[in-house]
Amino acid sequence: MLAGLGLAGAGGALAACSSNASSAEPSGSAAASPSAGGGFTQVSPEEERNAAQKTTVAFDGKHQAGIETPHQRHGLVVAFDLKDRNNVRRDLTRLMRIWTSDARAMTQGRPALADLEPELTGDPRNLTVTVGWSPQLIADANITGRLPGWLPNFRNGLPPFKGDALQPEYSGGDLVLQVCGDDLTAVSHAMRVLSRGAKDYVTVKWTQRGFVDSPQGQTPRNLLGFKDGSIVPRTPEEFDKAVWDQQGGSAMIVRRIKFKLSDWEALDRGGRETVFGRRIDTGAPLTGGGEFDEPDLNAVDSTGIPVIDPHSHVGITAGSGRTILRRPFNYDGMTSRDGDTGLIFICFQNDPAKAFVPLQRRLAQGDRLNQWITHIGSAVFWCPPGTRAEEYWGQGLLS
Ligand code: HEM
Repeated sequence: MLAGLGLAGAGGALAACSSNASSAEPSGSAAASPSAGGGFTQVSPEEERNAAQKTTVAFDGKHQAGIETPHQRHGLVVAFDLKDRNNVRRDLTRLMRIWTSDARAMTQGRPALADLEPELTGDPRNLTVTVGWSPQLIADANITGRLPGWLPNFRNGLPPFKGDALQPEYSGGDLVLQVCGDDLTAVSHAMRVLSRGAKDYVTVKWTQRGFVDSPQGQTPRNLLGFKDGSIVPRTPEEFDKAVWDQQGGSAMIVRRIKFKLSDWEALDRGGRETVFGRRIDTGAPLTGGGEFDEPDLNAVDSTGIPVIDPHSHVGITAGSGRTILRRPFNYDGMTSRDGDTGLIFICFQNDPAKAFVPLQRRLAQGDRLNQWITHIGSAVFWCPPGTRAEEYWGQGLLS
């Protein structure tokens, strides 16, 4: 009886902390629910295992985790530079072996090989690790396998955009690790283990830490108050069309975008909604309907003025016909009232030359939002495809 109570409690706690969907099927049983009589039903070992699995995102698969994965609460993104450019391919291969093995273990709730704090790996809570290689690194590694066609044109990073005020401490890098999860301790520990394991090969170029609210199935909000992430690819077909390339990889872009919050706060709610073309409360387009309904970019009011300003953020992006997976995190580096606060804008697509670049060109030219934001960091990477069990990241290209 007592053992049953203990198990039920543990299962309940696990079930409660697994708000995000993950690779595992929900057990479908009342593992820890109170019984009709008010007590707790006993939980079988299998049911308990199922509850634990809910907090684990599969590591191996056709594509890397951390892209299609439902948005976790915490994100830590670190870019690295290779120390030695004489043996790029050899060092990249060694690094991928180490990182893949450690990331596979930690995301599945097991300690990494030389884990100094194995207690921090027991409950990964949707921990994912995603790796990316810069176009220049790929060229230097002399990879001859089939690669996406956009890479050679991005060896110097993204093209410059009007209004850019890029800082080297948030830009560039040979490699990137994006570690996401619902438990900040697990995220932080995983990044520490991975960067320690790589110290013979790389130095840290930049670090960015971000968060989003716990959405419970709802779209998270950015620090300007708006739901951010409503219109993104959702079905496997939409991902195939917009996000995955023929190799099974994806282009990852990271832009650090700083807000001018004091100026933004001087704007009333109506003004803010005009800037975005959406309502703050529901996230619905100003032309009506719900959050996920299409904005009517042709609608005009009784005086003939467009309901959604063509220069609003959605006025520009929604009509563009370009689809990207936006997976941003808020950041708050507040050291003074107007400290560095904003959005770590992360997006994935199969070809940045056809998606991010034309979109950002249009936004940089005409987005009303530009008055309140500045792009201060920029980096572009290719995330190689996912792995089969025992394989390391990029094995098919490096071996
Ligand atoms: C600080 C910078 C930014 C903020 C605060 C922001 C915020 C938003 C918000 C609130 C929406 C409407 C809700 C939604 O669909 O998620 C939105 C939509 C969108 N944004 Fe941004 N965004 C930013 C930068 C960018 C950038 C740099 C790009 C791409 C170059 C971009 C591309 C898009 C796209 C494609 C949509 C969907 C439009 C649609 O189809 O309705 N955004 N953004």
